[in-house]
Amino acid sequence: MTIPSPETPHNPSPVERARRLRDELWFHNERYYNDDAPVISDGQYDALMRELRDLEAAYPECRTANSPTQMVGGSASDRFPQVEHPIPMLSLANAFSREDLEAWHRRVTDLLDGQPFRMVAELKIDGLAVRLVYRNGEFVLGATRGNGQTGEDVTHNLRQVRSIPRTLTGDYPPVVEARGEVYLPLDSFRRMNEERERNGEPLYANPRNTGAGTIRQLDPEVVRDRNMEIWTYSLNDAGDTPLPGNHWDALASLESWGFRVNDRNRVFDSVDEICAYYDEMLALRHDWNYEADGLVVKVNGITQQNALGFAGREPRWAIAYKFPAERANTRLLDIVINVGRTGSLNPQAILDPVVVSGATVQHASLHNEEDIHRKDVRIGDLVEIERAGDVIPHVIGHVPVPGEERGPEFRMPERCPECETAVVKELGDAMHRCPNSACPAQFFESLKHFVSRGAMDMDGLGERWCRILIDRGLVSDVSHVYSLTAEQLVELDRMGDKLATRILTNIESSKQRPLARILFALGILHVGAEVAELLAGRYASIDDIAAASVDDLTEIDGIGPRIAESIVSYFAAQRNRQTIAGLRDAGVQLWQELAPVDETAQPWKGQTFVITGTLSSMTRREAEGKVKALGATTTSSVSRKTNWLVAGASAGSKLATAERLGVPVLDEEHLLALLSSPDSIFIEDAAGRGPETASPTLI
Ligand code: IVH
Repeated sequence: MTIPSPETPHNPSPVERARRLRDELWFHNERYYNDDAPVISDGQYDALMRELRDLEAAYPECRTANSPTQMVGGSASDRFPQVEHPIPMLSLANAFSREDLEAWHRRVTDLLDGQPFRMVAELKIDGLAVRLVYRNGEFVLGATRGNGQTGEDVTHNLRQVRSIPRTLTGDYPPVVEARGEVYLPLDSFRRMNEERERNGEPLYANPRNTGAGTIRQLDPEVVRDRNMEIWTYSLNDAGDTPLPGNHWDALASLESWGFRVNDRNRVFDSVDEICAYYDEMLALRHDWNYEADGLVVKVNGITQQNALGFAGREPRWAIAYKFPAERANTRLLDIVINVGRTGSLNPQAILDPVVVSGATVQHASLHNEEDIHRKDVRIGDLVEIERAGDVIPHVIGHVPVPGEERGPEFRMPERCPECETAVVKELGDAMHRCPNSACPAQFFESLKHFVSRGAMDMDGLGERWCRILIDRGLVSDVSHVYSLTAEQLVELDRMGDKLATRILTNIESSKQRPLARILFALGILHVGAEVAELLAGRYASIDDIAAASVDDLTEIDGIGPRIAESIVSYFAAQRNRQTIAGLRDAGVQLWQELAPVDETAQPWKGQTFVITGTLSSMTRREAEGKVKALGATTTSSVSRKTNWLVAGASAGSKLATAERLGVPVLDEEHLLALLSSPDSIFIEDAAGRGPETASPTLI
């Protein structure tokens, strides 16, 4: 079996091109529906489907009855009993742009003879479509979509999905048929992969396939352990009782009977409103505990839906308005090594350029040799990459191409590619490192880090100038920046008086940065911003830290032997002592007034906070700093142990989880009030217990 070639070596005729596209799409349908292991991204699949549709529209001779454009892809696998769907489970036409959505809206308007209509916009959940049947309020059948006509009876597995009600509540009709998307929550997916990583097993590629695979495996316990969830999105006519006259009310009915309905669903009157909502959802999509790949826009009135009917296998009354694709498959052309500021040898993937969420991606991160081996990626492989939000794209894994020969396993070089020093790899350290602290590549990275925003914050002195200062021999130790003069700077190509003055002013004011910032700026291995804060919380000066032993340092909660050893060896090195001396001579303040440790200044000790959403008066990080300063701890996910959830604007799944678990929720205003009067977080309960034992109560 080989992937049908997407190439067109010699301009084939439209008929020939359509034939190839059909073969290709059938191949990918098999991979997607039957193997749960697609080899191309949804975006690439959609592009092939679009090309075939366009060809069929332009050249009627290209149309065939067995075209994938005429069918819902996939056929039900044989392992579960087959179920016929009395009302077929269909697919949706796609819109990829505002223009596509406008065209759909115009078509609907024409077909409804200009009648006004409302639309419901929902998130298009990237999971597995299921049909749920209830008789007299009891869950009796759950089935997958399969090929749209026939699916698999996966009732036993779906009974283990907590958000699928086993019995309905409220005023439900005798037969209820609901549909929805079952998915594997992203935190469960991450946990599963963390465990596989610990066990040295290959990682699961993505939550969609893993979730679909979970529902289609034979052990219901597995479904329960993975905390699968559902969003229910439609109520179908089961024939016996009149249903609500519009989709919005149908969703409300579903919710009232106990189904989980997404509270981001909205009703709109115009394309403009939908586009604004689309932009809003696009910006938020990474805050949720599930993946959504677009919106589904549905005509609200059921009579209007019926009047519009279907075109082939797609309803005319609904359309999927897709978000730009975030994953794609491409070839790994090479793996190059960059030397980081701590001497780490950082492998980087060089890719055959591919467009992912609207940007061309040609580089992606691969963390270290172990990571490369775990993902089993080799130069020349087809690989899946992901670009989520603004983060650097990363390689998810190798996409097997049956019958394809592969290159050798990747090995790290034995010598530093910059200075040729023999590379070392210490036990317990995932990275290979160049041990030469004078390695030019390391120094460039160290300087870049030293001047950066989170460190000494020398605005104006960016990466380009760091390179130039090093190349000109003006800076060979970070402390040398403090000796730079206006004359030296203005001599540099493209450096004007204004910029030189700005840089020098910023260099000067950096001398007063807090101790934690300086510690972080030094780029000591394993000392990130958080460890630097811990050190500055305990010691009054750099000299005190330099004099501390491993035992002294490990007394600090949060500092283990690995970090402590790294700190001690940093200050033991002659070169680093020179840097510190250079900074001292330049007048950089290497000490701080240390406030005496005062237990009463930690009134929130023992309290756990999760902060989510957007706050208007501060960033999330700042808010975390403030609650930590009062002794509280912050974590990233909500559990029963969480005492407080602070929910800013557009808080997503964490808010829902908190509400479900009964965790008290604070809005920004409450948080500010509590911060200004920290003791008011507790009120004495009826039994008169004091702050230590009182349960948190929203006041
Ligand atoms: S409505 C007539 N609503 O998208 C089709 N589908 O491409 C009715 N999906 O098979 C589907 N979220 O698996 C609908 N809010 C949503 C959805 C949704 C995800 C999936 C569903 C369907 C596929 C269609």
